[in-house]
Amino acid sequence: MPTQVKEGVVSTALLKLPSHEVSLPLVEGTEREQAIDITSLRSDTGCITLDSGFSNTGACESGITFIDGEKGILRYRGYPIEELANHSTFVEVAWLLIWGELPTAEQLASFRRLLSDYELLHEGMRHHFEGFPANGHPMAMLSAVINACGCYYPELLETRINDEQFRRACAILVSKVRTMAAFSYRMTYGKPMMYPDPKLSYCSNFLHMMFSNPHARYDAPPAVVKALRQFLILHADHEQNCSTSTVRMVGSSGANVFASVASGVCALWGPLHGGANMAVIEMLERIREGGESVKSIVEKAKRKQFLLMGFGHRVYKNFDPRAQILEKTCGELLDELGTSDPLLDIARELAEIALTDEYFVERKLYPNVDFYSGIILRAIGLPLNMFTVMFAIGRIPGWIAHWYELSRDPTARIARPRQIYTGPTERHYVPMDQRVAGSTGSGA
Ligand code: CMC
Repeated sequence: MPTQVKEGVVSTALLKLPSHEVSLPLVEGTEREQAIDITSLRSDTGCITLDSGFSNTGACESGITFIDGEKGILRYRGYPIEELANHSTFVEVAWLLIWGELPTAEQLASFRRLLSDYELLHEGMRHHFEGFPANGHPMAMLSAVINACGCYYPELLETRINDEQFRRACAILVSKVRTMAAFSYRMTYGKPMMYPDPKLSYCSNFLHMMFSNPHARYDAPPAVVKALRQFLILHADHEQNCSTSTVRMVGSSGANVFASVASGVCALWGPLHGGANMAVIEMLERIREGGESVKSIVEKAKRKQFLLMGFGHRVYKNFDPRAQILEKTCGELLDELGTSDPLLDIARELAEIALTDEYFVERKLYPNVDFYSGIILRAIGLPLNMFTVMFAIGRIPGWIAHWYELSRDPTARIARPRQIYTGPTERHYVPMDQRVAGSTGSGA
């Protein structure tokens, strides 16, 4: 069957199989990265592709974020991350990611109003927090409560919600996630819940909900607000990472935006992804407490007994531009607060040793976004188990943007990968009295 020529096709690639040859379209993106379109591969050849961890697989076409891992480039909707981190606000970046353009003053003001309208939690939802055990992990609470939004806004549970409904869903998620995160923290520490203050900026409002007390209001120092703003902007999207791909995969079944985003929180939790920011601090603490030296950690990593947390990236093979910005922010924040953190000195020592070691140089392993971010979060006063929650707050706009892009893509199909089966070939049921240990299962 002839392969249909698609938009963006620049040439064809020839695939030679033992039995025959097939010609596959070569497509190109706006930044000239190329892909072999294998949509017709199985029907043309009977073969599928095998790509563990999807390192070589483009799961979609997307106009949201561009990364050039070799050159250390990250752009949201074409805008360099460095410019956004220095000049933009988190709310503006959220708008940019979701709707594709920087907002006008009017659009931004109306979105801010909508965020204020939705910053409170329904009292019923507030009670969920009281039902969780005090030592429950805030990531578990966050994913559960985001998903529970579907119970409070049943009119937003469709895949094809209209534009006005979608704007509301965005405001609910972007705004309430702060309140949910702050409530989970307050509940864990047995502190009274602090309600949001609509007069405050996005970041200041979150810090107020976290750290104010009924008779002692916390006014965050400007350096803290700036560091948090940069942290959130730098985490706002990162194209097809594990959690975003999860959101797209769940969304591809037609699942609503709350369920899809909640699945992103779950995927983010693991230490290889968003959970790395906690793991980095645990590693640095171990070194500081004398449990391990910098040198021995590096040697263990080289012997594959340990992963150097906050190092390495699937896409960045030169440097992670987010880590560069955050290292600077980290130093500035500590200076402006007039404090120091021994973990920053240990992190810098570790980075220096690793960056000159042949093992790390050969494998192009560099500090990633999680390497310095934890030190910033510590300086802000956040406890360790809230670190990945902070990553999630930042990533909400990216997850929403990808869900929306997918929901509006007329060519999108349910995500349903295939596999190469390696289990037993056909065999027949053995009655219980004829089974011997090991012959019908694990033998355990
Ligand atoms: N420490 C020591 N060795 C490493 C590390 C590390 N952190 N990361 C990769 N390697 C080695 C790996 O063992 C392999 O060696 P070899 O070629 O000898 O087999 C080589 O480098 C290539 O690694 P890989 O496992 O193919 O890399 P990957 O693309 O599958 O994994 C990663 C990427 C980020 C999961 C991994 O580098 C890692 O586990 N890093 C530590 C966890 C971490 O910091 N995660 C945050 C990632 S950035 C933020 C985010 O996306 O959430």
